[in-house]
Amino acid sequence: MKIAIVFASRTGNTAAVAQAIREGCAGHEIVAFGPPPADVGEAELVFAGSWTDKGTCAPEMGEFLRALHGRSVVLFGTAGFGLSESYFASLGDRFKGEIPADNRVVDAWFCPGRMPPEVRERYEAQLKERPGDKRLENMLQAYDHALTHPDGADLEHARAFARTMVEKVEGSICFVS
Ligand SMILES: Cc1cc2nc3c(=O)[nH]c(=O)nc-3n(C[C@H](O)[C@H](O)[C@H](O)COP(=O)(O)O)c2cc1C
Repeated sequence: MKIAIVFASRTGNTAAVAQAIREGCAGHEIVAFGPPPADVGEAELVFAGSWTDKGTCAPEMGEFLRALHGRSVVLFGTAGFGLSESYFASLGDRFKGEIPADNRVVDAWFCPGRMPPEVRERYEAQLKERPGDKRLENMLQAYDHALTHPDGADLEHARAFARTMVEKVEGSICFVS
């Protein structure tokens, strides 16, 4: 099967997940691997991934997704504030909202992704001005949680996720034809 893996990554977290997804697609033809804009050629399956920027995908990924037609699409991403599955589910919905209806969104998977140290320094400074601020405390907690991610378990999860997605799309193509 022809597969494209397109991803927006500023600091390398989403790129590491994309690489693991590529490993999970071993044995298939990778027709594109890199950032948007990307030519996905005749890819039957498009893995599209992004870091999270203000609660949704990066603008260039949004642009890429809006131009996709007639594909099976699997979304993935990393998020600095990924403390809960419900947050990841809401991100999946936001990413999906960019995709035209003539595509088939197969599934979405996210993991936490570490943020630069300046982010923690900024929250710490703000917390000094507003001691006990629950929102800031939660953000610091999320920062610390993300600090070790994506880790080996996340990358193994990404590989397994990719294998499952490939099987699922292959199965549906065989079923239709
Ligand atoms: C400007 C900026 C905005 C961000 N906005 C969010 C956000 O809204 N939600 C979130 O969970 N993480 C947010 N993050 C954290 C990144 O999405 C996260 O660290 C991600 O793993 C970075 O991926 P990358 O290394 O592939 O660029 C933001 C980071 C930056 C620098």
